Amino acid sequence: MYSEISAARDVALARVAEARTSDELRALDTEVLGKKGALAALKAGLGKLATVDEKKAAGAALNEAVAAVEAAFDSRRRELGRAEREVRVAAEALDLTEFAGRATRGRAHIVTQAWQRLEDVFVGLGFQVAEGPEVETDWYNFEALNMPPSHPARSMHDTFYVDHGAPGSTVLRTHTSPVQIRVMQSIAPPIYMIMPGRVFRNETTDATHLAVFHQIEGLVIDRDITLADLAGTIDAFTKAFFGTDFGSRLRPSYFPFTEPSAEFDIRTPSGQWLELGGCGMVHPNVLRAGGLDPEEWSGFAFGFGIDRMAKERHGVGDVREMYTNDVRFIEQF
Ligand code: FA5
Repeated sequence: MYSEISAARDVALARVAEARTSDELRALDTEVLGKKGALAALKAGLGKLATVDEKKAAGAALNEAVAAVEAAFDSRRRELGRAEREVRVAAEALDLTEFAGRATRGRAHIVTQAWQRLEDVFVGLGFQVAEGPEVETDWYNFEALNMPPSHPARSMHDTFYVDHGAPGSTVLRTHTSPVQIRVMQSIAPPIYMIMPGRVFRNETTDATHLAVFHQIEGLVIDRDITLADLAGTIDAFTKAFFGTDFGSRLRPSYFPFTEPSAEFDIRTPSGQWLELGGCGMVHPNVLRAGGLDPEEWSGFAFGFGIDRMAKERHGVGDVREMYTNDVRFIEQF
């Protein structure tokens, strides 16, 4: 019996060593270690042995043989797997240098460039960056920002409604201001945050208006924040972003979510004033909607259009040019 066991083991080991592929090895596994294999037949024969001791000894030898064959299967499986993976990786490899020297180098779109520079400048001023969803609820986009359903200011933000939930409850956000509320709800003051992102309005497009554009929102909430902090931050930003020969001014305006509110303009070195965005002190109702006590916290917010900034910075005549995807246009920047 012992010689039969070691013979069966040796045959099995030799066949495992000869297997050339994982598939072959898998088929062999069933054949050699399965119910119809030589080792299983020997196991069935154990019962015919005369004494209990003989049965025990032969059983132990058989178990050892099976363990040795299983270990051989394992190591061959790993070996073949590794070799097959190497062949596959080599076959699937992409030569990413294929076009080097022939194609011109790509670059970020001017709106992306402006977005990234804005983040760099504000992070340098001590701000953090947050983002919010482009599909918003009416509550975040309007109501929490002090624009209840019948508020006339809503007509300046004609928007696209999304067929989700109760009719009229879900919109493509018309500005990045709803992210103010989300930030107030998720982190405790002091808050120094900027929130860039894509926004949507039902607009007829022209040289300065798009229906899909980008804004960057700023929100500061701390104790004893005043309008002077807002004006100072806007001016520090203007000089850091555009250059020290630029200036800024606030012009009285109206937004439902800030009080007082202002438009902010920048002065170019040639003395021309350009409107950049809106700003103001965060309205107490907005602080409350964000879960903050207006007696304890105060703050300012601002929001401006990134596309218009890119347009001004690069002297583009019509903002729509930036989205025609005409390589001759894009290549210039
Ligand atoms: C707002 O959207 C306010 N949420 C801004 C704000 C934030 C005020 C925080 C106070 C506090 P307004 O609708 O003016 O405001 O848009 C802000 C800027 O977005 C504009 O100055 C302009 O640069 C840009 N913008 C507005 N509409 C368009 C458009 N259709 N196409 C391209 N840019 C636009």
